[in-house]
Amino acid sequence: MSISFEGKVAIITGAGNGLGRSHALALAARGAKVVVNDLGGARDGSGASSKASQDVVRLIEENGGEAISHGANVANFDEVQDMVQQAMDKWGRVDILINNAGILRDKSFTKMTLDDFKLVMDVHVMGSVNCTKAVWDIMREQNYGRIVMTTSSSGMYGNFGQSNYGAAKMAVLGLMNTLVIEGAKNNIRINALAPTAGTRMTEDLMPEEIVKAFAPEAVTAGMLTLCDDDAPNRFILCAGAGGYSSASIFETEGCFIPQNAQSPETVREHWNELTAKDNQAALESGAKQGEKFVMKAMAYMQSQQKQ
Ligand code: NAI
Repeated sequence: MSISFEGKVAIITGAGNGLGRSHALALAARGAKVVVNDLGGARDGSGASSKASQDVVRLIEENGGEAISHGANVANFDEVQDMVQQAMDKWGRVDILINNAGILRDKSFTKMTLDDFKLVMDVHVMGSVNCTKAVWDIMREQNYGRIVMTTSSSGMYGNFGQSNYGAAKMAVLGLMNTLVIEGAKNNIRINALAPTAGTRMTEDLMPEEIVKAFAPEAVTAGMLTLCDDDAPNRFILCAGAGGYSSASIFETEGCFIPQNAQSPETVREHWNELTAKDNQAALESGAKQGEKFVMKAMAYMQSQQKQ
């Protein structure tokens, strides 16, 4: 069945260029009313301009869609609130938030300044927090919300020169994990996208023909499945050049070592058991880990009492 966003209002951050632009055009083409947010700065976050976001709005309107642009810096909560208010004034609801805005300040950790670290955290992490916070109560009251975080393989697996970016991209998954739990009773679903696309962010990392193969539209096709009525929840979708996969954090079943034997030596002795991957699971909350360990301790105590 075809996926439609008719009647939905979507905010896409960083939608003047690259992936955000592609997301905004696709959502609008399938019926959503769209807020095209973009600060319009350079790849490293310096500067500002409204040209790119206004161009996207014009394109949407030329194709018969409805859109407004907003130049909020996602790292600034007051500006973000103003953007959300404008969407509410115009359309009276916000159904979809795509946290996509991002910058790069790559350097090896040795050379990286703390200012470069903090700025990247601010845009990716606080930007996602600010935008999500500004729509959260609206989505709760509507009993409907779809939010997409933009993570990265750099966050999940690491990449040379991207300690700031990797930390930020993993942080948005932590944000998703808790918000999924808190938003469940109000039909708010949150998923994450780990894209690879030829954009200005990656243009000097990929040869020209590869940039073409990694068209943003291939990522957007997957992204749209994360924010419609039938969206999954807490799903990490990896997408690039027509390849799609999912990522998860799994924890092994592990082992139990009784109190009188707990030492670094015995932990090391149990390494094979502790790391055995059979029965590994993705836990549905942090509390489940504690429950697992309590069950192991209780099973041990019961076995001792029987003896
Ligand atoms: P891009 O540089 O083409 O687009 C990012 C947009 O975000 C720009 O238009 C920029 O003006 C805007 N932006 C930056 N800071 C902002 C702020 N403070 N407030 C509002 N807007 C701001 O980059 P691309 O590739 O489209 O990236 C989009 C997202 O995807 C980013 O979060 C990026 O980290 C992520 N990503 C991209 C990958 C890729 O292969 N292109 C790989 C993994 C993740």
